[in-house]
Amino acid sequence: VGIGPGAVSQMTMEAKQAIEAADVVVGYKTYVKLIETIVKPDAEIFSGVMGKEVERAKAAVSKALQGKCVAVISSGDPGVYGMAGVVLEVADREKAKIPIEIVPGVTAATAAASRLGAPLVTDFAVISLSDLLTPWDLIEKRLHAAAKADFVIVLYNPQSEGRKEPLAKAYEILLEHRKPETPVGIVRQVGREGEETVVTTLKELVESEVDMTTTIIVGNSTTRVVGKRLITPRGYDL
Ligand SMILES: C[S@@+](CC[C@H](N)C(=O)[O-])C[C@H]1O[C@@H](n2cnc3c(N)ncnc32)[C@H](O)[C@@H]1O
Repeated sequence: VGIGPGAVSQMTMEAKQAIEAADVVVGYKTYVKLIETIVKPDAEIFSGVMGKEVERAKAAVSKALQGKCVAVISSGDPGVYGMAGVVLEVADREKAKIPIEIVPGVTAATAAASRLGAPLVTDFAVISLSDLLTPWDLIEKRLHAAAKADFVIVLYNPQSEGRKEPLAKAYEILLEHRKPETPVGIVRQVGREGEETVVTTLKELVESEVDMTTTIIVGNSTTRVVGKRLITPRGYDL
């Protein structure tokens, strides 16, 4: 179940109903906290730490095999770097005959775009800078390809306290293909306490405050800043 970027108000009705109906709720502890007000009082909660996704998926499949109605929650959309894939893979590996439904959610890219204006109204690419599950050389290849093809680029997992190198390298790659003054939007904690939106340029990106709950949107060659907003023209004749 995709819980959206943060606030319960940003959740779809379908996601809310799925969580309210669940006997068991499985999720990363930060996300479980965001939805605890709508969980059934007697629901069992299986919360865990980041990096234990396989463990959570196995627990969810095992509970479902016991006949429980289980909601595995992901922030944003479960099919966008979320739990949908690993749950389906575990169920397949264990040949578990259980009905599985994927409930979509508002992904961070579109939630961040809404705060910035309209940067994604044309073709865009989403790239995660986390090399935990994807080799770094493949991430570099994708950054080059998307930048060269003039996609608006959304960066997920940009950097954390101990992991600053990927964003620094991505910055160098993007500057090989885009002008330094290309508009960039940085949105932290969309829908959560401490939400922040910054409009800057590619050149200034390295000086901006960025963490793991930040989504960065790098404009294409036509993206412009209007007031405090980003617009990527779709091509209409005005
Ligand atoms: C592993 S991805 C999960 C994406 C999620 N499934 C989705 O659809 O939004 C995590 C990354 O999403 C972005 N993200 C998730 N929630 C966010 C929020 N509330 N505000 C800004 N960025 C967010 C950040 O870039 C973060 O590092």
